[in-house]
Amino acid sequence: MTNLPLIHFHDFHPALSDFRADILAGLKAEQKFISPKYFYDPQGSMLFDRICELPEYYLTRTEIAMLMQCGDQIAASIGSDTILFELGSGSSTKIRLLLDAIRPKCYIPMDISKNHLFQSVNLLAKDYPWLEIHAICVDYAGSWNLPPGLRGKNRIAFFPGSSIGNLSSEEAVSLLRRVARLVGNDGGLLIGVDLIKDIGVLEAAYNDQQKVTEAFNKNLLLRLNRELGASFQVDRFQHRAFYNRDLDRIEMHLASEGEQVISIAGELIHFKAGETIHTENSHKYSIAGFQRLALRAGFHPVKVWTDPDDLFSIHFLQAQGV
Ligand code: AVI
Repeated sequence: MTNLPLIHFHDFHPALSDFRADILAGLKAEQKFISPKYFYDPQGSMLFDRICELPEYYLTRTEIAMLMQCGDQIAASIGSDTILFELGSGSSTKIRLLLDAIRPKCYIPMDISKNHLFQSVNLLAKDYPWLEIHAICVDYAGSWNLPPGLRGKNRIAFFPGSSIGNLSSEEAVSLLRRVARLVGNDGGLLIGVDLIKDIGVLEAAYNDQQKVTEAFNKNLLLRLNRELGASFQVDRFQHRAFYNRDLDRIEMHLASEGEQVISIAGELIHFKAGETIHTENSHKYSIAGFQRLALRAGFHPVKVWTDPDDLFSIHFLQAQGV
């Protein structure tokens, strides 16, 4: 643990052996897959920051506009003396819009990308010298415990960006159950959730003209080359992103151009022509659909905000009976 004034850094980063085993298991499955959590190496995190600024990617700018407009209402719902957790804090950009209104006792960002987390909290600490920060490098979608000593009353979890949509409904309920236990009875969850909408708008957001999303998707293969000595020729894979109407989700895949064999971590993986690696799901919800999911985890709806075009929603929910 590294201590700077008011910043405490806790590293629970998953070991490389987990990464190798996960990747090999996914590439040997009937439908090849790689967990989207592996997008976020330093290059992937930078590409994701660029995605958030793309004209087609309405999610980030819509959520930011809502946080700016509704910050005081949100702070009023949350209350005072808050211990504020953020799941998948990335660049800690959105929390800046709430910090002055909420004035939490302590901010606890959690992110899988160590360098990104470290850089972001250092910048944050310069701009908010009064804020006590405990940065935790962890896979928030896996199992985790808080470092000891982080106890407090009004616990609120902030989970922006519709990252909940990257989980299956079972995974989402299980994560929210853990969050409910983390915040305890009467603790809160402030969560951004992307809404079901026109398919053209959704598909454009994941097939941007500048091809940044394509680069983000293909960076996974480059990461496997860099970190596991894999032999992917990235230009022999195509980026595919489409809306699956039956499951209300965008699916991202990497499709093999022709038949090929890849070596990775001492093993050979065969690809048929057109065979894909499924790299991400991004589920979209109705307001009621998300509230039903949250209830299964013990979170009761308190308030929901939406933008004027009904693109995005921000829910404030309270944990009860956990
Ligand atoms: C982080 N997550 C909410 C993004 C999403 O929209 O599902 C990741 C992303 N994938 C492609 N573009 C953005």
